Amino acid sequence: MTTVIKGGTVVTASDTFPADVLIEGEQIVAVGKALSGDTTIDASGAYVIPGGIDVHTHLDMPFGGTTSSDDFFTGHRAAAFGGTTMHIDFAIQPKGATLRETLNIWHAKARGKAAIDYGFHVAITDLPDSVLAEMPRCVEYGATSMKLFLAYKGALQVDDTTLFRAMQQAAAHDLLIMVHAENGDAIDILIKEALAAGHLTPKYHALTRPAGLEAEATGRAIRLAEVAGANLYVVHLTNAGALEQVRLAHARGSTNIYAETCTQYFFFTKDDLAREGFEGAKWVCSPPFREVSDQVALWQGVADTSLQVISTDHCPFWFEGGVQGRSPGKELGQGSFAAIPNGCPGIEERLMVLYTHGVRVGKISLNRWVELCCTNPAKLFGCYPQKGLIAPGADADIVVWGPETTRTISAATNHQRTDYSLYEGWQLIGAPRTVLSRGRVLVEGDTWAGEQGAGRFVHRRPFGK
Ligand code: URP
Ligand code: ZN
Ligand code: ZN
Repeated sequence: MTTVIKGGTVVTASDTFPADVLIEGEQIVAVGKALSGDTTIDASGAYVIPGGIDVHTHLDMPFGGTTSSDDFFTGHRAAAFGGTTMHIDFAIQPKGATLRETLNIWHAKARGKAAIDYGFHVAITDLPDSVLAEMPRCVEYGATSMKLFLAYKGALQVDDTTLFRAMQQAAAHDLLIMVHAENGDAIDILIKEALAAGHLTPKYHALTRPAGLEAEATGRAIRLAEVAGANLYVVHLTNAGALEQVRLAHARGSTNIYAETCTQYFFFTKDDLAREGFEGAKWVCSPPFREVSDQVALWQGVADTSLQVISTDHCPFWFEGGVQGRSPGKELGQGSFAAIPNGCPGIEERLMVLYTHGVRVGKISLNRWVELCCTNPAKLFGCYPQKGLIAPGADADIVVWGPETTRTISAATNHQRTDYSLYEGWQLIGAPRTVLSRGRVLVEGDTWAGEQGAGRFVHRRPFGK
């Protein structure tokens, strides 16, 4: 059974050219002129790009006194509607659990639900000698990257001893260390001071997590990685000071330091947390939103390749949760910003928002958009060229992208399982027309054609292998 995607313009991280794409079974078998197949997907007037890969998501994650509201079906369906055909989720290690047990918990969450392909990072919260010794087995588990949190004191945070030991072990076994870089000890003091002063509204979430504490933790993690010889990927970088730390590392010749930012950090500031009433709680995530000057720095960072990936940190909660069968959500923090679950939705909007407000306005090129959202994620996380490329031999994870297709974003029509969107009312130009995962059509216009349970775990290679 063959399918041809006909008459489109193929866009990869490096090239843009008119070509048909022939799919046989689950893979691309040819890219060229005048190809034909058993069935045809019309791509005239469209770009044909590799499916988006979102390497930073939190589906069905226990966090902040509740659980993130998308599961491995609703999150996958939303991702597909936005043109994302693979994601890598964080399997959070319960204290005392082995890494195998941790991954088993997350595999169970995805089983029977997954509609797109997925991988896992392990988030290490507890590193006794036995778990340190188990780390190399992550190669066999196919989960070759691990995140450590330098924030969320008393919950997920690890100390520098744990971070450095993990880095040494990762360096010896070609694993990739990821850090949530904020100084959790200092933040904890600032939160306690704010609460004591009666500063309880959402805006104090941003005010108690200043940019300098992200820059400090970023610089510290980079220096530790340099000493340990580890490959380091800084997640959800938000501001100019943290970016400067990455640039300084590159300037002194450290080629093993990588960083991502997330879509939302280009568009919102700490002032969004000060919106009328409790509205600002929708924008509570960590690290928090910063200043307009930081947005400018981030655009510069993706354009000059200091930042290699744009992900979403999709971690949705209901704004009005705890009713009608919903899990508790942002309302948990009505009495205090410190109790607002941290996280925002965004797996669905990423490619569309960045196309409209990045590519169309000339902030990033079409090829750079593909590189940041589809190709670099696959390269850095051990699944290229199976994923992230339009070429013979690659999985047929493909998006037929309508450059003039319009969308008005609304929680009411979105597919993410939450009652708000950060981008509510935004009018976007450029959206998926057809989305395929390993040759199967998942989305055709507004119609869902995917299947629960059809998504597969992607066993990723060690870093750089
Ligand atoms: O606020 C956020 N980012 N929630 C998800 C957990 C994390 O730190 O990535
Ligand atoms: Zn984080
Ligand atoms: Zn996250």
